[in-house]
Amino acid sequence: MSLDISSPQATYAAKAVKVSKIYGQGDAAVRALDSVSVGFPTGRFTAIMGPSGSGKSTLMHCLAGLDTVTSGNVYVGQTDLSTLDDKALTQLRRDQVGFIFQAYNLLPTLTALENITLPLDLAGRKPDQAWLDQVIDTVGLRPRLTHRPTELSGGQQQRVAVARALATRPKIVFADEPTGNLDSRAGAEVLGFLRQSVDDLAQTIVMVTHDPTAAGYADSAVFLADGHIVDEMEGPTAERVLDRLKTLEG
Ligand SMILES: Nc1ncnc2c1ncn2[C@@H]1O[C@H](COP(=O)(O)OP(=O)(O)O)[C@@H](O)[C@H]1O
Ligand SMILES: [Mg+2]
Repeated sequence: MSLDISSPQATYAAKAVKVSKIYGQGDAAVRALDSVSVGFPTGRFTAIMGPSGSGKSTLMHCLAGLDTVTSGNVYVGQTDLSTLDDKALTQLRRDQVGFIFQAYNLLPTLTALENITLPLDLAGRKPDQAWLDQVIDTVGLRPRLTHRPTELSGGQQQRVAVARALATRPKIVFADEPTGNLDSRAGAEVLGFLRQSVDDLAQTIVMVTHDPTAAGYADSAVFLADGHIVDEMEGPTAERVLDRLKTLEG
């Protein structure tokens, strides 16, 4: 996952090359990211970990084209986001990137199915029915498709949000603390579906979390501290992640 910029073979669904992000100016300036280089391999589930304020959300927002960088470059697939105008960036976000947030952000007046297909409808795209069926079955929502969000549990609502993020078959899915609002059982369910979407649907997922148990579902973890990548871990387990976080916070 260390970014080997010299290797043209490595395929990253998204990567950051020497990305810095500074909020504010003068005395109030905060360097949230300090020359971060990291790549997220296609078809893998990567967790971004680190103490509160270490730059996790900032990194994710920059990678997803939701925020601009102060310096450096972000690529989604082969596309350098800095070369895109607003319209092209909006289109890339819509067509190639999926988002899952802590708050599910479902529309209350729409059914589960209507929420799932909303990004496609907004883009004027016809759903790929076979793909959509596969996504719905992977997240186990078939019996709930006509329900509105208020008729669903938190875990079910987040599963709708997962399905919505996958519906466009994006190049990469970004999840920021996706289980932050869920109890541990519902959280485990959602993490299991994220895992399955990588294993069964070959999706690429980048998940920001401070929860070692959540990181245990990922193929690898990168650790941020003070805007720097300070470590990486292959095959993270909750226990090893917890130990590593203790040294970062201690
Ligand atoms: N919009 C903003 N304006 C000013 N400072 C910000 C803004 N967003 C984040 N920061 C600062 O940048 C640093 C990294 O924040 P963030 O990426 O949210 O960390 P994390 O997600 O790891 O908790 C923190 O010091 C935070 O206070
Ligand atoms: Mg955050």
